[in-house]
Amino acid sequence: MVTVNKNYLKLQGSYLFSTIAKKVAAYQEANPETKIIRLGIGDVTQPLAPAIITSLHNAVDEMAHAETFRGYAPDLGYEFLRNAIAKNDYQDRGCQIDADEIFVSDGAKSDSGNIQEIFGLDNKVAVCDPVYPVYVDTNVMAGRTGEYNPVRGNFDDVIYMPCTEENGFLPELPEEIPDLIYLCFPNNPSGAAITKEGLQEWVDYANKTGAVIIYDAAYEAYIREENVPHTIYECEGARTCAIELRSFSKNAGFTGVRLGFTVVPKELERDGVKLHSLWARRHGTKFNGAPYIVQKAGEAVYSPEGKAQLKEQINYYMRNAQVIYEGLKNAGYSVSGGVNAPYIWLKTPDQMTSWEFFDYLLEKAHVVGTPGSGFGAHGEGFFRLTAFGTYENTKEAIERIAKM
Ligand code: MLT
Repeated sequence: MVTVNKNYLKLQGSYLFSTIAKKVAAYQEANPETKIIRLGIGDVTQPLAPAIITSLHNAVDEMAHAETFRGYAPDLGYEFLRNAIAKNDYQDRGCQIDADEIFVSDGAKSDSGNIQEIFGLDNKVAVCDPVYPVYVDTNVMAGRTGEYNPVRGNFDDVIYMPCTEENGFLPELPEEIPDLIYLCFPNNPSGAAITKEGLQEWVDYANKTGAVIIYDAAYEAYIREENVPHTIYECEGARTCAIELRSFSKNAGFTGVRLGFTVVPKELERDGVKLHSLWARRHGTKFNGAPYIVQKAGEAVYSPEGKAQLKEQINYYMRNAQVIYEGLKNAGYSVSGGVNAPYIWLKTPDQMTSWEFFDYLLEKAHVVGTPGSGFGAHGEGFFRLTAFGTYENTKEAIERIAKM
């Protein structure tokens, strides 16, 4: 008799952003004339930069000729892209990461979900609370989290590190020592950033305890302040304890194009095994590479024109972040984030729950955001707005909210 992976039955509801999309679609159907402004999922709205479009066109033309046509991509990704990443994202920042430590993928969401596969099921996982739901859900699917505890609103065998107003939405080193620690900075959902000294403490802790940090740096392009690290490898000792996940979605608008990468340093060993070789084995077996044309588009991100155009694009979104932050603050909301990140984290007014505020905002202002409780128990009473909308819609949304 066929049995199913019962761990899936422990998952709570559907994926957060699918739930929101369904609710919004139902509201729109019932109110077809209403202009809904979507500041929920962190999906970009600006078109791909011209340098990227040119590169895509050229790559498509190459695919039309036998001499330049490409089939399967190399396992780790094309060298032209891995070299550009190693140089621009790491070596130019003084971090020693080589091209053969970079694994190109179809995005950080897949990598952040898949990376747990190379670790034993008996590993104890620590996550921030609130947290990007993929880290927890994929560990639930794998059977690493124990049962769901409806009273606490989380899983029995996961170490949750509360990120609250009191600690500036930054996790504290857990007393119970985890094996795998998921960190995301600048943070999704709270928009909080960590200083280099702050991150160094985590690296020291991981090296001391033998834990591995899975560091999601998908939002590094939004860092504005000095002393906020762009990569965990700016910290001393990170090569022996950290894997880094990166995305082209947020820095270059690839949410629909799909490209990302994972860095696994060759020194990183646990249980007598190099994690690099495990991830290489997994990657080679389960993945046939991001498309050539997409990797060429990724290469253009690092060209001088690409860099200049993307800087403009990030500035565009960060102007939205400022509009949201200032507008809400002036309207009396308690807000954080939005300085080094495209997310603004606000406290719901009048003791409303996160979902009550979601409904209230949709009903009264026709604005969609993301309920904080969808990211974890400590997100209750909070709400996330994204700066990835158009400037006009963002301004209008905040004017509507201020008038509520
Ligand atoms: C978010 O809204 O949290 C992100 O867009 C989700 C993602 O990048 O997968």
